[in-house]
Amino acid sequence: MKLGLIGIGKVGSQILTDIQYLNLFSDIVVIDTNEQLARGEVVDHQHAQGLKSTSHIRINSGDYADLVDADVIVVTASIATDPNLPDRTALTKGNVAVVTDVMNRIHAVTQQPLIVFVSNPVDTITYVATQVNDYPNEKIMGTGTLLESSRFRTLIAKHYDIDPKSVEGFVIGEHGQHAVPVWSKTTIAGMSLDEFELLSNKASINRTAITQQIDKVSFDVFHDKGWTNVAIAKTTVELVKSLMLNEKSILPLTSLAKNGRLAVSLPTLVTRQGVEHVFQIALDETEQQQFEQAQAYIQQTINTHYHK
Ligand SMILES: NC(=O)c1ccc[n+]([C@@H]2O[C@H](COP(=O)([O-])OP(=O)(O)OC[C@H]3O[C@@H](n4cnc5c(N)ncnc54)[C@H](O)[C@@H]3O)[C@@H](O)[C@H]2O)c1
Repeated sequence: MKLGLIGIGKVGSQILTDIQYLNLFSDIVVIDTNEQLARGEVVDHQHAQGLKSTSHIRINSGDYADLVDADVIVVTASIATDPNLPDRTALTKGNVAVVTDVMNRIHAVTQQPLIVFVSNPVDTITYVATQVNDYPNEKIMGTGTLLESSRFRTLIAKHYDIDPKSVEGFVIGEHGQHAVPVWSKTTIAGMSLDEFELLSNKASINRTAITQQIDKVSFDVFHDKGWTNVAIAKTTVELVKSLMLNEKSILPLTSLAKNGRLAVSLPTLVTRQGVEHVFQIALDETEQQQFEQAQAYIQQTINTHYHK
C-alpha cells in the first residue's frame, strides 16, 4: 500500500515517524514545497532502516505524479504557524490557497485515494477541499475533533486518576474554541459519571472547568514547546490505519455537512471507501446550542475567507 504525505513540517514529520512503524505501507511519498526539508526528513527516516526494529519500506521525497497509485494521502501542508496566533482561523486565508493548490495537483493525477486533512482550520480546509474540483466528496475528510476527543478523555481520566481508555466520551463541532464535549453521552466502563462517582467515592468532576480546558490545553502545549505534533500524529495514524484496514470505525471526524455549506465534526462511519454515514446524534439543550454556535462559527470563517 502507498501513502502520500503532503507537508513535512512538525506534524508531518511526526506522522512519518509513527506511520513508518505501522507496517502497513510499503511505499511512502513525501511532498513539501520546501524540497530540501523533504529530502532531509526522508533520509533521516531511511537511516532507521538499518536497525532490526524498522521495516525496509520505500520512503522517498517526490512529486504529485508519484501519487498516481496512492491509497491514501495525508495533508499537513500549511503556512507558518505561530504560538501567538489568536486562533487557528488566522491561518484560513493562507491555507485556503494551500488546499486549493494541493487539491488541483492531486486531482490532475488521480481521484482514487482517500484524503485526510490535518491543516488548520481543519473544518474550513476540509470544506474548501470538497469545493475546489469534482474530487469525490466522500473521499475527503479531516481529523476534526478526534484530537479533542482524546484530550477530553485524558482530562476526565486525570481528574479521577484512571486510565483514559476506560472513559467513553467524544467531542463534536469545530476543531478549536467551539469544540463541543458531549457530556450527555460520556460514560466510564458503561457507568454514568454520577454512578461512577457514587461507586468509586471519587470527587465530583467540574464539567465547566474541563470543557474550558479542552481547547486551552493545546495552546498550553503550543506555548511551552512551540508546536503540537505528538498527539495529532497518533490521532492521524490511528485514523489512517482504520481506513486502510476497512475497520468501519465510528469516529468524530469532520466532513462535508448534509446541507453542503460547511464541514463539521460528528460521529462518522468511515470505511476503505471513505465517509459512509454521519450520525446526527441527539444532544441535550446545552450541547445543541453549542453545536449550533460551532457551525455558525465555521460558516462565518468560510464566508469571510472563501468566496467561490
Ligand atoms: N487538526 C489538528 O488537530 C491539528 C493539530 C496540530 C496542528 N495542526 C495543523 O497542521 C498544520 C501543520 O502544522 P506544523 O506544525 O507541521 O507546521 P509547519 O510549519 O511545521 O509545517 C508545514 C509544512 O507545510 C509546508 N507547505 C506549505 N505550503 C505547502 C504546499 N502548498 N504544498 C506542500 N507543502 C507545503 C511547509 O513547507 C512546511 O514544511 C498547521 O496548519 C497546524 O495548525 C492541526
